[in-house]
Formats: sequence, C-alpha cells, structure tokens
Amino acid sequence: MVSDGTPPTNVRFPPSFMAELRQRVDIVELIAERVALRPAGREFVGLCPFHQEKTPSFSVSRERGVYHCHGCHAGGDAVEFVRRTQLCGFVEAVTQLAERVGLAVPDARPLSAEERRQQAERQELYAACAAAAAHFQDMLLGPAGAEAIAYLRQRGVDGPTASRFGLGYAPEDRDGLGQALGNRFQPELLLTAGLRFSRSERPGARDRFRRRLMFPIWDEQGRVIGFGGRALDPAEQPKYLNSPETPLFRKRRVLYGAHLARPAIMRRKRVVVVEGYMDALSCHQLGFSEVVATLGTALSDEQAGMLARAAESVILAYDADRAGDAATERGLGILQEAGAELRVAEIPTGQDPDDLLRHAGPAAFAAVLDSSVPLIRHLVRRAVAVDGLGLPEQRWRLAQRIVPFLARASAGTRSEYTEWVARELMVDPRELQRAVDVLSDKGTEHRNRKAWNASAIPARPANRPPSGAEAAEETVLAACLHSSAWLRWVASVASIHDFSAAAHQALAAKLFERAREDPSASGATAPGLALLDAVGDQVERAELARLMARGEPDVSQGVLASCLETVRRSRLLREVEELRAEQRRRMAAGEGMGSPGLVQLTRRLTELTAELARSARGGWHV
Ligand code: UTP
Ligand code: MN
Repeated sequence: MVSDGTPPTNVRFPPSFMAELRQRVDIVELIAERVALRPAGREFVGLCPFHQEKTPSFSVSRERGVYHCHGCHAGGDAVEFVRRTQLCGFVEAVTQLAERVGLAVPDARPLSAEERRQQAERQELYAACAAAAAHFQDMLLGPAGAEAIAYLRQRGVDGPTASRFGLGYAPEDRDGLGQALGNRFQPELLLTAGLRFSRSERPGARDRFRRRLMFPIWDEQGRVIGFGGRALDPAEQPKYLNSPETPLFRKRRVLYGAHLARPAIMRRKRVVVVEGYMDALSCHQLGFSEVVATLGTALSDEQAGMLARAAESVILAYDADRAGDAATERGLGILQEAGAELRVAEIPTGQDPDDLLRHAGPAAFAAVLDSSVPLIRHLVRRAVAVDGLGLPEQRWRLAQRIVPFLARASAGTRSEYTEWVARELMVDPRELQRAVDVLSDKGTEHRNRKAWNASAIPARPANRPPSGAEAAEETVLAACLHSSAWLRWVASVASIHDFSAAAHQALAAKLFERAREDPSASGATAPGLALLDAVGDQVERAELARLMARGEPDVSQGVLASCLETVRRSRLLREVEELRAEQRRRMAAGEGMGSPGLVQLTRRLTELTAELARSARGGWHV
C-alpha cells in the first residue's frame, strides 16, 4: 500500500552490469531453492512464500526474469526476491547473486549529492515524526493529559485501542513540542515535518497542534509520517487539524490504519473503508480490524489502487449521503476499474460507523456489512431514491449514468447486471446493452484481476485496439516496458499526464526520463527490466512486475496510436466531469455565474469540449 518512494539503495550499479547479472541468473532455479514450483504453460507456479495460501497464486517467468503473486501482489526480479527472503539490502543481494553466477561486482556509483541530501532528510523527518508521536503519547499519560483521557473515556475508546493507535495529546503550550524536540532536531526540519509554524506564519504560537487529541498517521510500514489532531473544545475550528503535505505525508496516498489492518485484510480477504479516525478506532476496538480510513477526502486514484491491491473485495462503509455524492462516485469508478469487487454498505444517513457501533452495537454493524450491496445495485437504488422513476426520458437518463459502471463490470457479470438495471429502471434492455457495449471491450478479460494469469488471457487480435481506457493505458505502458523502440516513439508523442493511474504515471516518468537520457539505447534489454532498480515504491514495483509478466503486447503503431487516443480522451472526459461537478457545487452554494472563479471554470470547460471534439474527428497529431 503506501510506500515512501525511498530508492532501495544508496548506490547505483552500472546498467550494463545489472543487465548482465539478470541475464545470467536463472530466476526459476533461484526461487525453486525455496519454493516448490511446477511448470504451467510458459511459467512456473507455486505457493507464495510471502503470504499464507493453500492454492498457488505465485508465478515465475524465466523468460522475463520476474516473479509475481496475484494474491498478495508481491513481485519483482531476482534481486528483489533475495532482498525479501533474506531481509538484506540491495548491495548485499546483488553481491550474492553475482557470486552465484561468477560475475565480478563493479564499483557502485554513489548517489548524487542531491539524492543523498534528500535521503538523509527523509530519515530525519521519520525520526522527528516518531519523536513527536512519543512526546504526544507522554503528554497524554502525564498530568496535562487528564482532559484528553476523560474525552477518550467519554467516547468509549479503551486503553489497549488508544495505545495500539498511538494516541497522544498536544497540550495548550505554544512551544511544548519545540522545547521537547529542539535539542535533537534542527528548527527547519520541524517546519518541514509540518509540526511547527515558522515565525512568519505564526508569530507567537509555534507548535502546530495545541490542545488537541493526537492521532499519528503511518505509512504502510507503520512509520509515522503525519498527524491528525482533534480539538477537545467543540467550538474550536477546524474539528480535525491535519499535518500539511510534507515530503513524507501525502494525504491522497494514506489509508489510515493500513498497517494495523493488513493481517485481518489478508485473513478475511476483504477491506472495509470508513471515513474518519474515530470510525477506524471503534471498528478495530470492536473486532472489525480489516478497516482502514480515507480521512474525509474523496477517494483518490492512489487510494483506490492501494485498496484494489490489498484485497479482492472492498466494502465502502460511508454515510449514505457521502456514499452517493459525485466525488465518491468517481472514486468508486476508479476502484471498479482497478479490478476490485466493490460493495457499498448503506450506513443510515447522518450516522457514521462509530455512531452505529456505539448506539446499535457490533452485531448491527456486522449486519450492515453483510447486507452491503454490489456497486451497481447501490447506484440504482440511490438513483431511484433521489430522483424517482418518473417519465421514460428521466429513467433513461438514470440508466445512462450507470452505463460506465456497467461497462467496467467484469464480463462474467456485465450482461446479467445490464438486464437487471434495464428491468429496475424499465428501459429497453437492448438499447441499454448497446450503450454498454460501446464503452466496454468485450474481449479484454485481463481487466478482471481474478482472471489474471498470463497463460489464461486470450491473446488480443493484433489489429484491434482495446477500447477500454484502462486496457489502452496498460497496453501503451506495457509496450514501452518491453521495447526501447516503442518507448522512444511513445515518449516523443505522449506526456506522463496522459496516464491516469498514479503508478502508471510514475513508471512513465521514469521510463521517459531514461529514453531522454539515452536516446540510442539498444533493444537488447527491455526498458522495464532496467527500471526495476530505480523503483523503490512498492505499489509501482508490483505494477511493474505485473506488466512485465504480461509480456509484450502484439501491436502495430496504428494500434498504439489509437490506444493513446483512448487514454487521452478518457483523461479529458474525467476532467470535464470533475469541472462540471465543481460548477454544480459552486452554483448550489449560491455563487453567481459571473464570479471570477466560475468564469474561469467555464472557460476551461469550453476549451476541453473543443479538444474533445477535435479528438473525435481524429485530430490528434500522433
Ligand atoms: P467527520 O466530520 O465525519 O468526523 O469527518 P468524525 O470522524 O465522525 O469525527 P468525530 O466522530 O466527530 O470525532 C470525517 C473525517 O474527515 C476528516 C477527519 O479525517 C475525520 O475523521 N476531517 C474532518 C478533517 O480532516 N478535518 C475536519 O475538520 C473534519
Ligand atoms: Mn464520528
């Protein structure tokens, strides 16, 4: 899930050496020393050594030199395998493999001064966050914490839960944290960590968090990266004050409680998503430990990707209004696209899981989760509840809003759901089916993650471009990963912003940079293999391994060009949707059409619409 993006090492070996090493190491032989593998098609499969399982989800490709588990999403090359199984560093893993195949290890290139500075700063930031968490915890347990302890009691949080979640207290003092940490950390660092204000930001009060109950926020490895602080005084605004964005803390990439929830998520094969700190705490306290929280923001692409990778089944447990709002609906689309089986638990309007657990008890909450409905049912229910069934045109409009969700449903369930939606909304099933077909790509089964298995994927006919935007994006990226020739061409006609998934964007950025640095790179090594060293982020590594395992797509330049066009159109459409939602929100809030904000928004919408029209006429210059 979240990863801090630290490079796996503080040195870099020459790429030619790494390529040679990869070529010489037989990854199947290496892994077979630890895992019983049997051949399956062109790959080898076995029980994943990184998680408990009874049926094999772990596959190894000799040809491509990578392994991948579609159960826990571990993946990587031989170096990564050695690192993970022997818990050693990059250099050690490389040295070990080099010895194995009789290669001399060359001098590693040290990181540049700037790279080293950044790495050192990150380490300091982690240390400062950890020290702050410990300080807040001390304050909670000391005399200053009495009020906060009383508040926790009143909210029913027990001692073990408070300590499991590392809760603390930031007293009223203006400078308490500064004094406690001042002798260990530079003042500048505490500013960068978002723990203090600079003199110019706040003359006088310097600590960011004051008289607040403190919730540390962790990355997936359980390192503290930021904080949320709840005001004890109900009149104090904002109710929750969070860390600002820092080099460690990116709100869009946080799933609160993920590292505490991981074992339960694996065991129960599902992840439940709630909105707030207190919801997560109460759920864990009362036995629902597969719960993570999104901290009040709309579900981001990154979070959706992380969730889809965490478990096959995702249950959204938001307040009913929130679960139906436009921003959440967009997040649901992203999650669905990421391949998750998605259900929505309908929490009564005006309540959150914490309220429900406190007032109605764990059994009632369990019942709400058990009666959660598949996404499409939820959308139909919601549409009918809000807008009513009305005239045929009205019903058709409702159905059309559901079409994109139907198109993204797995092919196994798509036509069944389409028929069901047609019946519920009383629209013509054939007409609805046609609308769904336009958006979906019936032949692309690999979008359904459960079906992922390189040999089980029917090859796509070489001359037909995939029509789903996500499939198109994958095809473009996979082509770049496998062939330097495709990479050079794509890098010259596309931008990283054409990719929508965060992991794809990050991978494209690294690939494009390489293509620019070394435009004459030969076709000997797949660019994706060379990239494995440079990717420290786990989500990106897993995606890289998955795409590498998929093999080189069998495409022509025309097909790739049309994939790119699909990807771009989908990006434009997404932006248009967001702007329209923003426009509606502002107008509902009483902002006049002539306000500078709305005028600018409308101008951008006009531009986008024109761009879309151009692309529909085939006007992309690729
Ligand atoms: P809610 O307003 O639903 O609060 O915000 P809550 O979680 O139920 O909190 P309690 O029960 O009143 O203590 C949901 C989440 O949105 C974020 C927080 O992560 C919160 O848990 N939020 C909310 C903020 O970041 N800032 C705010 O001012 C309010
Ligand atoms: Mn609440």
